[in-house]
This record gives sequence, structure tokens and C-alpha cells, in this order.
Amino acid sequence: MDQAYVKVDSVSKVFDTFSGDRIVAIEDISFNIRSGEFISILGPSGCGKSTLLRIIAGLLKPSGGIVSVGGNQVQGPIKGIGFVFQKPVLFDWYKVLSNILAPAELAGLRKRDYVDKAYELIRLVKLEGFEDKYPKELSGGMQQRVSIARALILDPEILIMDEPFGALDALTRDQLNLELLKIWSEKRKTILFVTHNIPEAVLLGDRVVVFSERPGRIKAIIPIELPRPRNIEVKKDKKFGELEVELYKLIAGSDDSEIKGLANEGEG
Ligand SMILES: Nc1ncnc2c1ncn2[C@@H]1O[C@H](COP(=O)(O)OP(=O)(O)O)[C@@H](O)[C@H]1O
Ligand SMILES: [Mg+2]
Repeated sequence: MDQAYVKVDSVSKVFDTFSGDRIVAIEDISFNIRSGEFISILGPSGCGKSTLLRIIAGLLKPSGGIVSVGGNQVQGPIKGIGFVFQKPVLFDWYKVLSNILAPAELAGLRKRDYVDKAYELIRLVKLEGFEDKYPKELSGGMQQRVSIARALILDPEILIMDEPFGALDALTRDQLNLELLKIWSEKRKTILFVTHNIPEAVLLGDRVVVFSERPGRIKAIIPIELPRPRNIEVKKDKKFGELEVELYKLIAGSDDSEIKGLANEGEG
């Protein structure tokens, strides 16, 4: 369990923009992730969180450094990763069941081999009875549940979630956070969860990786030593509040406006 499953070693990324500027998105990022670990990545907008996720998934080449997954260097898009983004990006013309089966279809697999699994996931994300609805007939939270089920259909080792609940209202977000914890405890995926919401990072993570403003560097990696399984009661824990304050201070540095930005729910 202590062995590194994902290794991020001195990774940096420089973008050349159309206007001729060079943007250093991330700089010298190093950390390891254990198999089955829940990692929260916390940082202000534009600090390179999504860039790092794309590099880990092999969708983007780093300018420097190496990522390896399961002992193999990542050199192109890797299999075994499920994605959940802030926008659910569902097929409007597919019903819920077909949306969940879409990755199997796109991979050229036989959809019928995955139908039982799809129903199991529908139960897991609490969408029983909505199999035959179209995305537009669902609330934002329910659409995000579909995205989670879809991300799990091919049984990925790693689940990458890029501000998945950032567009939801606070109540729905809390609810989905708790359900995600249940899903994780059942499926034991390695999860990389990006957020700029501090309580969410603490509630979910085994560790919180804190990014600086751009160019994104790791400011700190904070272990979240709160008991599991966690439920909403954990927010009453003195330790929870202490961790929140520690993270606010780390993120904000001396800039007060950043604290206010981070305290706001649901910012895109
Ligand atoms: N394809 C790209 N071309 C040029 N600049 C990019 C590209 N992708 C991201 N960036 C820039 O890199 C920085 C980090 O972006 P991103 O990883 O999306 O940040 P975050 O996810 O933390 O909000 C931003 O300044 C963004 O404008
Ligand atoms: Mg992003």
C-alpha cells in the first residue's frame, strides 16, 4: 500500500501562446500517489491543476520531468483512467443508460457486455429509475452522477475529477461529496480530485496537495488525519477546522482577496 503507484517527478509545462508569450503553467511538481489513495489538489484558478491532470493522463506532454503510472513512464494517453469534469459533457441525444455505456461503445467493445455493470453503477450513484431519461431531464447534480457512473464503466484504476462539483449548489455538493466517499470506499479507485474549495478538499482527501498561484508549484502536502469512514459529522471535529485554517493560510499567503475567492462556493 505504501508503494508509489503514480510518480510525478519534477514535472513542468510551458505553453507557447499564439501571441508569442510563453506561459509557465506548472514548475517542478513532484509527488507520489499510493494505489487507492484519495488525493485532493487545491489551488487558485489558473495555477495549472488541469494541466497537471492532463499530463498525468498522458493527454499532454510535459516540458520537463517524468510521470509514471504502475512503474511505466507515461508517453501517450494511458488506458485505465476515468474522467469527470466540471461540465458533465453528456450526449444530449442518449438516455442515461446509453451515456453510461458510451465509453464501452467508443472503445469498440460490445455494449451488451457492460449493461449489468451499468445497472450496478446506476444503483451506486443512486439513479435507479432514471435509466431512460435524457440528460436535459435531469438536474445538474444528477447529470454529474451520470458522469461519475460513466467514468467507472470500464473499471479504471484511476479516477480523475477536475472540479466536478464546482458548478453545483452547496447542498448538492455536500451530498455528492458524501456519496463519492461511499463510492470510493466500495471501489477503492485511486482518485485525483481537483477543487478550489477548502472544506471539500479536507472532507475527501487522504492528503491535500496545495498549489501556489501560477506558475503552479507545490506549496505543501498536508495529510488529512481524520478518521474514515467520514460522514458530515467530521466537519464538527476540531481537527477539521484546524486543517481548514491551515489550508486557508497556505493558499492565501498575504493576499486577502484570495481568501475571499476561495471561501465562495460554486465559483467556476
Ligand atoms: N493549451 C494551452 N495553451 C496556452 N496556455 C494554456 C493552455 N492550457 C492552459 N494554459 C494556461 O496555463 C495556465 C494553467 O491553466 P490550467 O491548468 O487550466 O489551470 P487551472 O486548472 O488550475 O485553473 C493558465 O494560465 C492557462 O491560461
Ligand atoms: Mg482547471
